[in-house]
Amino acid sequence: MANGKIVSIHSFRGGTGKSNTTANLAAQAALAGKRVGIVDTDIQSPGIHVLFGLDETKMGKTLNDFLHGKCTIREVALNIGEKASDSEGRAKLAGKDIWLLPSSIRGREISQIIREGYDVNRLNEGFQTILKELNLDYLFIDTHPGLNEETLLSIAISDILIIILRPDNQDFQGTAVTVDIARSLDIPNLILMVNKALPKYDPADIKKTIEATFNAPVAGVLPLSFDLADNASKDLFSLRFPDHEWSKALCGVADAILAVK
Ligand SMILES: Nc1ncnc2c1ncn2[C@@H]1O[C@H](COP(=O)(O)OP(=O)(O)OP(=O)(O)O)[C@@H](O)[C@H]1O
Ligand SMILES: [Mg+2]
Repeated sequence: MANGKIVSIHSFRGGTGKSNTTANLAAQAALAGKRVGIVDTDIQSPGIHVLFGLDETKMGKTLNDFLHGKCTIREVALNIGEKASDSEGRAKLAGKDIWLLPSSIRGREISQIIREGYDVNRLNEGFQTILKELNLDYLFIDTHPGLNEETLLSIAISDILIIILRPDNQDFQGTAVTVDIARSLDIPNLILMVNKALPKYDPADIKKTIEATFNAPVAGVLPLSFDLADNASKDLFSLRFPDHEWSKALCGVADAILAVK
């Protein structure tokens, strides 16, 4: 059995900041000297590869190829630390132990997997194999919003589940659903993170209210930020602008993950 931890990042609704958060949390763990993998299980609408400067032409093998038995999981893993870096934030990952396992961005392959499905056990085996083969400390899983097969799997096998929510009533209801599922599955570490919080509210008040509502710890309240929107998923914001409020709050969440024994 591999010793590395699986960290799933989920939100019930879309657009909460999962992909930006996952990429930045993984990057912070790699900067802290950890061996880190990132899997894009958002098969329907993959996106996290963009934060690592990849497009269809640079991707190589994908999770889809693995799920269809066309390659091993190891062949999907792209070493980000080895790539010549093309942006100020990503350049800081040079020489670090960080791998991305992207999902295909080809329309035909996405529709094929949605139409035909795949063996979810194979995905689980892939997670376990890559943890072992790359001797990872952490495997971060970026998910599709809502609940579907790969999301339920990634929640069920998580050592740490990060649920992201915005301060919005639709998100509150959806988060209650996911928290209930996580509790029924006995996920060992359930951590909430608030993103897109309006700066006019005190983050400490938001934290207190959300913790009382869901009876779970909030590891960070990250502000709604024009600077982050302006970054437009081009770069790893917390590496590029480490002194920004969003980045500092993000690092607080990374610390909470690294502190889990
Ligand atoms: N704190 C923030 N302030 C402003 N914009 C943000 C913030 N966090 C994320 N964004 C922006 O919100 C959009 C969605 O972010 P992201 O893709 O990370 O979310 P997601 O939860 O992965 O979305 P999806 O559910 O579609 O996968 C992006 O344009 C991103 O730049
Ligand atoms: Mg996403």
